[in-house]
Amino acid sequence: MSAETAVKAFKGLESQDLRILLVIEAAMTKHEFVPKEVIVKFSKLNQEEATFRLDRLHKFRLIRETKQPYLGYTLNYAGYDCLAINAFVKAGILEAFGKPLGVGKEADVYEALTPEGRRIAIKFHRLGRISFRQTRIKRGWTTEDVNWLLRSRKAAEKEYEALRLVYPKGVAVPKPMSQNRHAIAMGAIEGAELAEWREIPKPEKVLKEILSNIRRAYLKAGVIHADLSEYNIILKPDNHILIIDWPQYVTKKHPNAQQLLRRDIENIITFFKRKHLLKIRTDKALAYVTGKGKCLQPNLLYKGG
Ligand SMILES: Nc1ncnc2c1ncn2[C@@H]1O[C@H](COP(=O)(O)OP(=O)(O)OP(=O)(O)O)[C@@H](O)[C@H]1O
Ligand SMILES: [Mg+2]
Repeated sequence: MSAETAVKAFKGLESQDLRILLVIEAAMTKHEFVPKEVIVKFSKLNQEEATFRLDRLHKFRLIRETKQPYLGYTLNYAGYDCLAINAFVKAGILEAFGKPLGVGKEADVYEALTPEGRRIAIKFHRLGRISFRQTRIKRGWTTEDVNWLLRSRKAAEKEYEALRLVYPKGVAVPKPMSQNRHAIAMGAIEGAELAEWREIPKPEKVLKEILSNIRRAYLKAGVIHADLSEYNIILKPDNHILIIDWPQYVTKKHPNAQQLLRRDIENIITFFKRKHLLKIRTDKALAYVTGKGKCLQPNLLYKGG
């Protein structure tokens, strides 16, 4: 589900609506669907007011309703999005939303503005959502379904952590600004995924810049991206790169650190070999990145191409 629903609904929400969402969120640790009477009780609203708010939120598609075996409600992604948006607004980080920057399976990224008019990006993580019907058929009502909420929040926490570790060390990543629930606020960047560029001016320079950033993350912050590919590298219009999408990072102490680092490097090398006919040996690149060797000039496989 795209964050569009939340972005549109948020403007119309009143404090009582947000209070209801917060109550449902808190009670979701105990119930997959929070019984209506529990919501009424903890919201401290009267029955009539709470019913009105629940119907509204349901109409905005921010919550899901069940009537069996009891009347209850649960947040869906849009409701969770609204709570994160509200937190950013209250913290003075977010003023307005712009266009979507990337909508996919595991995340929704939106352009936004701060109260000072600076452009930022808000990334909403989307993980582990099991469809309503599937859960019901396979397992009956269980609290396992709230895993999507926890897993998405964990992903955002990890990604924010990674950005906070590498950004101050000068690694080319978006500037981390804030994190709340399953969302992170970061500096907005221009450009497109490396995979999308049909032609790259000076690909050997770009490859060297990528390797030097992997090296900096590893040597100065002890961080390995662990999901690096041409899809998670943005090439900016000025022909410099940024590395994005860090929720699966590991530190160099991780038992698989060396394999993951090697795989990151191989992914990049394979891409440059296939698409830009540049050849560089993995062990040499690995030695460079881990501080044991000097950077090598990537060799052109064929002239022309
Ligand atoms: N800080 C940013 N500024 C501008 N655009 C961004 C920013 N971060 C991400 N994007 C855009 O959003 C897209 C998806 O971001 P990212 O790779 O972090 O998420 P993902 O988990 O891979 O999501 P998906 O499942 O949609 O691929 C990026 O390819 C990029 O186009
Ligand atoms: Mg990605």
